[in-house]
Amino acid sequence: MAGKLYIKTFGCQMNEYDSSRMADLLADTEAMVLTQDPRDASLILLNTCSVREKAQDKVFSDLGRLRELKRANPELLIGVGGCVASQEGEEIVARAPYVDMVFGPQTLHRLPDMIAARRRTGRPQVDISFPEIEKFDRLPPPRVEGPCAFVSIMEGCSKYCSFCVVPYTRGEEVSRPLEQVLEEVAGLADEGVREVTLLGQNVNAYRGPRGGGPPADLASLLDYLAEVPGLSRIRYTTSHPKEFTQRLIDAHGRLPLLGDQVHLPVQSGSDRILSGMKRGYTALEYKSIVRRLRSANPAVCIGSDFIVGFPGETEADFQATLRLVDDVGFDGGYSFLYSPRPGTPAASLSDATPQEEKAGRLERLQARLGALADGISAGMVGQVEEVLVEGPSRKDPLESSGRTRNNRMVNFAATGVAPGSLVRVRITAALAHSLRGEIAAP
Ligand code: SAM
Ligand code: F3S
Repeated sequence: MAGKLYIKTFGCQMNEYDSSRMADLLADTEAMVLTQDPRDASLILLNTCSVREKAQDKVFSDLGRLRELKRANPELLIGVGGCVASQEGEEIVARAPYVDMVFGPQTLHRLPDMIAARRRTGRPQVDISFPEIEKFDRLPPPRVEGPCAFVSIMEGCSKYCSFCVVPYTRGEEVSRPLEQVLEEVAGLADEGVREVTLLGQNVNAYRGPRGGGPPADLASLLDYLAEVPGLSRIRYTTSHPKEFTQRLIDAHGRLPLLGDQVHLPVQSGSDRILSGMKRGYTALEYKSIVRRLRSANPAVCIGSDFIVGFPGETEADFQATLRLVDDVGFDGGYSFLYSPRPGTPAASLSDATPQEEKAGRLERLQARLGALADGISAGMVGQVEEVLVEGPSRKDPLESSGRTRNNRMVNFAATGVAPGSLVRVRITAALAHSLRGEIAAP
């Protein structure tokens, strides 16, 4: 079905990645081109997120609006993918009968077949199964846009934190074979990619099958990737403290390509809450990882995820989180109000803390995290940083933009700098969301 494709993505980087793979796939098999205007589209896909209630609610209100578009254009096809699709399945078609396809994160590669079946049978198609890792064998090579690319190395999660829907919506952890990942990264580097971000819900649970040997862990994958000609940076997200092994920490000491930033979700600084969350580590164990990581690479900055207001969280528990934030000196982080998710163990826990109190805690935490990140940015002023250039600045074509080793965006006066090159930039000012700089003498 040649025509225009509109994709709306909710949620995490995995979803962003999945959306870009859907666009690649439909360009390849159906000659579809992306549009930014849903009114122009012959196929609209919503790639949904159910990690918090708000994201889930948005999907159904968006679907209500799409119904009008379908009324005006009965040829329009509507698909719902991602975690809400995975959780609700047939229920989506029952609630919104004008939806044509419902597919999960592990069945998006079947979209062309589902579109054909929808046309042949005239009936909505629902496929939210978890066919292991067949997805990657069936997707075309990713399209390269600029010097940075994402590479999914594993799917799903087997940690079953008591608050989280991901293991139910994305299935258990499955790793892509080592050779397949190496081939994909080498192909990307050949086409000019200089930075890859390895993606997965728990990348350090990676156990990549390989011909004639035991599975490769993340540390060995990184060692192999460091040898790929042309690559200058490798990042990964997200990792889990429970499997943050000494081998992985040592890799940070050994491989300068890993840059100076690690995102390591902690969720809470209270051991009582961490245990209720079933996270599998204590605040002290978390701090020990950070300490060892810093002794491997003293420049490393640590970002994190936090949940505020988990059932039973007291002011004292929250204070323990603030203490951990100060002890670690986090470089920013994402913090969320706890959102009970149907089907998760924590959803049945009783909780006496009023919502306003939780909102107040969230505000305090965010202020603290913001101040710490600003302090790190301010400390960079005057320093010369290695910047990987992404291209001309979006706001001013006489400037170039790139990222520092600790993943901060820097704008600096320079034209014609090849995207992907590494330049030395002296930081001249720290702004709220970016830095300013000037090219430093070599
Ligand atoms: N794999 C990651 C880890 O190690 O924790 C997390 C992936 S999860 C999809 C992203 C973040 O969403 C989590 O780190 C957590 O902070 C947040 N999150 C997950 N479930 C949540 C819930 N029920 N309420 C609020 N935030 C939640
Ligand atoms: Fe969710 Fe915990 Fe996995 S937060 S994605 S169950 S590590």
